[in-house]
Amino acid sequence: MKVSFKVNGQPRTVDVPGDMPLLWTLRDTLGLKGTKFGCGLSQCGACTVHFSGTAMRSCMTPISSCQGADITTIEGLSPDGTHALQRAWEELDVPQCGYCQAGQLMSASSLLAKNAHPTDAEIDDAMNENLCRCATYPRIRQAIHLAAELKAQSVQAGAPKAMKGGKP
Ligand code: FES
Ligand code: FES
Repeated sequence: MKVSFKVNGQPRTVDVPGDMPLLWTLRDTLGLKGTKFGCGLSQCGACTVHFSGTAMRSCMTPISSCQGADITTIEGLSPDGTHALQRAWEELDVPQCGYCQAGQLMSASSLLAKNAHPTDAEIDDAMNENLCRCATYPRIRQAIHLAAELKAQSVQAGAPKAMKGGKP
């Protein structure tokens, strides 16, 4: 079947079996290899992408349900690697083998989009279905806090300066 949708802001049309998982379509049809296959059962989070801004497992999502969807993959999170999470990940040296990390970043960015300053408990709750065999969980949590700070700093830096008299 033909499915038209957006991937990383670009309109794409694929002609594939309707029951093909989105993950296969991204990796094998569109050549976007950053999203990883882990379990294929919606249980590890390696295949996490954004579906209209919300983190979603692409391994169990049939392409037939993606008609008109707006999909973001790790390649589209920030093409130049300057997303606050990518900077924090780099600064804290989060990855070990790296296999799970694209999924971790996509879940974390979905969390920060909804909650600018999550607590440890909120981070654990949002990230608990993203598994990491290398157990980088403490660094992931630290990096999400750092990214929240970096985001807040860049918002402040971009905010209009207050003028004398207190008016913006
Ligand atoms: S590969 Fe999709 S959740 Fe594991
Ligand atoms: S960094 Fe190796 S599985 Fe997470």
